[in-house]
Amino acid sequence: MSTVIKNGTVVTASDIFKADVKIDQGKVSAIGNGLAEKGDKVIDARGKYLLPGGIDVHTHLDMPFGGTVSSDDFYTGHVAAAFGGTTTHLDFCIQQKGTSLKDSLKIWHGKADGKAVIDYGFHVAITDLNDKVLKEISTLPGQGVSSIKVFLAYKGALQIDDTTMFKCLQQARDAGVLTMVHAENGDAIDILVKEAVAKGNLAPKFHALTRPPQLEGEATGRAIAMAEVLGAPLYVVHLTCNDALVRVREARSRGSRIYAETCTQYFFFTKDDLARKGKTKGLEAFEGAKWVCSPPFRTEKDQEALWQGVRDDDLSVVSTDHCPFNFKKQKTLGLKNFAAIPNGCPGIEDRMMVLHQAGVRGGRFDLQRFVALTATNPAKLFGLDGVKGSIAVGYDADIALWDMNRKHTISVAKSHSAIDYNLYEGMKVQGVPVTVMVRGETVVDNGKLVAKKGSGQFLRRSKI
Ligand code: URP
Ligand code: ZN
Ligand code: ZN
Repeated sequence: MSTVIKNGTVVTASDIFKADVKIDQGKVSAIGNGLAEKGDKVIDARGKYLLPGGIDVHTHLDMPFGGTVSSDDFYTGHVAAAFGGTTTHLDFCIQQKGTSLKDSLKIWHGKADGKAVIDYGFHVAITDLNDKVLKEISTLPGQGVSSIKVFLAYKGALQIDDTTMFKCLQQARDAGVLTMVHAENGDAIDILVKEAVAKGNLAPKFHALTRPPQLEGEATGRAIAMAEVLGAPLYVVHLTCNDALVRVREARSRGSRIYAETCTQYFFFTKDDLARKGKTKGLEAFEGAKWVCSPPFRTEKDQEALWQGVRDDDLSVVSTDHCPFNFKKQKTLGLKNFAAIPNGCPGIEDRMMVLHQAGVRGGRFDLQRFVALTATNPAKLFGLDGVKGSIAVGYDADIALWDMNRKHTISVAKSHSAIDYNLYEGMKVQGVPVTVMVRGETVVDNGKLVAKKGSGQFLRRSKI
């Protein structure tokens, strides 16, 4: 039986048009008018917009980090994503020190198996390189993985050195694998953090003050220089500031294969949010810990640069870096010392709605650009082109029906993540994904969860 979504307005990265969309065996089989035939299941989308399901290429579900584990697993995180109109995500499989990439991937497959509700893939974060692991990079595409990540920050934990970075870029280039980089100068940050702690500067706001934008700019420039020398493609994750953006812009104007994303939250918050006072009894002065992530929040001037970046395509993707930690039970690991606050913020459910609100409704870019940033570009950059990221014949029928008249107030009480706060608490949006499909199967039906646990599929991605 075919499904036909009738009377809706289809949005792609280049067009907006009224059309019916026909779905057969999980894929879009036709787009046109009057497609419904006798026996078809018909969904009336009159007054609704059909957007490609969002693709969030930067998430950390069920990830051990900062002395704890991120609070969403592959079920709660997927449910939250689905309610927010996201139907695919790429998560970071972290190489456990002393283990192979294959074994690390096995662990991450185990985390998702039987729980997934949306489709997913993995990047592998290299934390412990030796000759064997280096060679393993070439085997990743055969395992459906076409991206690796390296961290230039988190000294003593995930950070790698420049030798490792250079070797990874070289090997990845030859293997058709995209290298992603967390670009902050971890060595310099480590000194600044130790100095702040020694002086007794222990409150959350010192997280931002010890990770200045120049050190993100420097590390971004260093990573780009290595990639350019090697002719390797590079993707800079969670870019936050003008210091880093200018490096990306210059490299792109030289024609280098340098790409970058920012994350939703960097448009909305500044380092001042780390000094917020809250109402939670006993934790009033600790409220800012909710906004502790790396790189940290910057200034309004940086936010303006980021908006310009997404308009110019120097920033091609907006993802979340969803890495949730409960305020009362997990962020409090750093109650006495900001350096022990688990780094990370939630946002997988909010990304599309708040970006639509501030970006499209705020007049900063149009709906097509919104689709490009949240679905089409991520698919193209990460080996999912032709499968995900657009509403087009032959593509997976990952479709979100948006009611652009529906108003919603973001709140933790109405959210689906396994976390006790929401960064955007109280923010009013207009435009909500009400019905969401993954490969033609409805997972959220008019605001109600109908997904089957375990129905999400692992995506084997193409080489880059
Ligand atoms: O603070 C963050 N971003 N936590 C998640 C790990 C990372 O750096 O992406
Ligand atoms: Zn990072
Ligand atoms: Zn991250």
